[in-house]
Amino acid sequence: MADLLELVDSRQIASGVHAIVLRRDEPLSEPVAPGTFLDVLCGTAATSLVLRRPLSIADASDDGREMTLILRVVGTGTAVLAGLPVGSRVDCLGPLGQPFRIESGVGRALLVGGGVGVPPLYLLGRRLVEAGVRVQFRLGFRDAADVFWTDRFADLGQVLVSTDDGSAGTRGTVADLEQDDAARDFAPEAVYACGPLPMLRYVQSRFAGEVPTQLSLEERMACGVGACYACVVQDARDADHQYRICWDGPVFDAQEVAL
Ligand SMILES: Cc1cc2nc3c(=O)[nH]c(=O)nc-3n(C[C@H](O)[C@H](O)[C@H](O)COP(=O)(O)OP(=O)(O)OC[C@H]3O[C@@H](n4cnc5c(N)ncnc54)[C@H](O)[C@@H]3O)c2cc1C
Ligand code: FES
Repeated sequence: MADLLELVDSRQIASGVHAIVLRRDEPLSEPVAPGTFLDVLCGTAATSLVLRRPLSIADASDDGREMTLILRVVGTGTAVLAGLPVGSRVDCLGPLGQPFRIESGVGRALLVGGGVGVPPLYLLGRRLVEAGVRVQFRLGFRDAADVFWTDRFADLGQVLVSTDDGSAGTRGTVADLEQDDAARDFAPEAVYACGPLPMLRYVQSRFAGEVPTQLSLEERMACGVGACYACVVQDARDADHQYRICWDGPVFDAQEVAL
């Protein structure tokens, strides 16, 4: 069932990137799990957008009443959402989806993110640190103007940044961060990733099979609740089966999916 959440904060945090905080009237019965998302109705009478837009939960208060979303403005829905005044009511479904799992017995976890795949890694990092896990973040952005929240990530663990043009951190992609001394010294016992497909393919081929690796996939969604099969990914072990990213995911074991 959809809830009308109150927009209690909205601010630009990087070029074309906004952080919004939504508050529900009642607390949630359990803490928000990392990797889950809200399916947000961005439409107004003026824009008449029908389909909801999935946005990862970047952070949440302990009682689940407040949730922070970080969104890049790429089209009408995200532009409407970024422009809403504080005090607006926003129609949201969720938290939805299968979350990242905290692997037991893991002491060091590597979290790899790119662009709008970076936000869910913040709540995941928080939960890992609360579980006593040491974390290293490898975060990829387009350029320095695109970089956000690295100070907050640094409160949780070590942060290595890459940008396409080298205007912040290492020039290149998150794969190039492997050459960094801090990366060489960090042998992960679990890997988590969220971001664009080429980045997920790199993480899959580099780490899956070696250490437990989980990937959060992004695909355009329609219903958001498993009914329409608009958001499928091929099952790596069964040619006749496809997973629905909104329902079976968005988080998958890296060896479950053919990218
Ligand atoms: C599980 C999940 C979590 C997500 N989390 C975030 C998040 O935390 N922050 C964030 O900024 N975005 C996130 N996204 C992407 C976000 O849902 C889309 O950017 C948004 O729906 C675009 O809506 P729009 O109306 O602004 O753009 P549209 O007008 O619908 O599209 C504008 C352009 O963006 C492309 N696009 C739209 N949706 C996607 C998509 N899912 N993947 C790739 N390209 C797309 C379109 O092809 C088009 O070129 C997530 C997507 C998924 C599936
Ligand atoms: S969006 Fe309808 S099944 Fe995933």
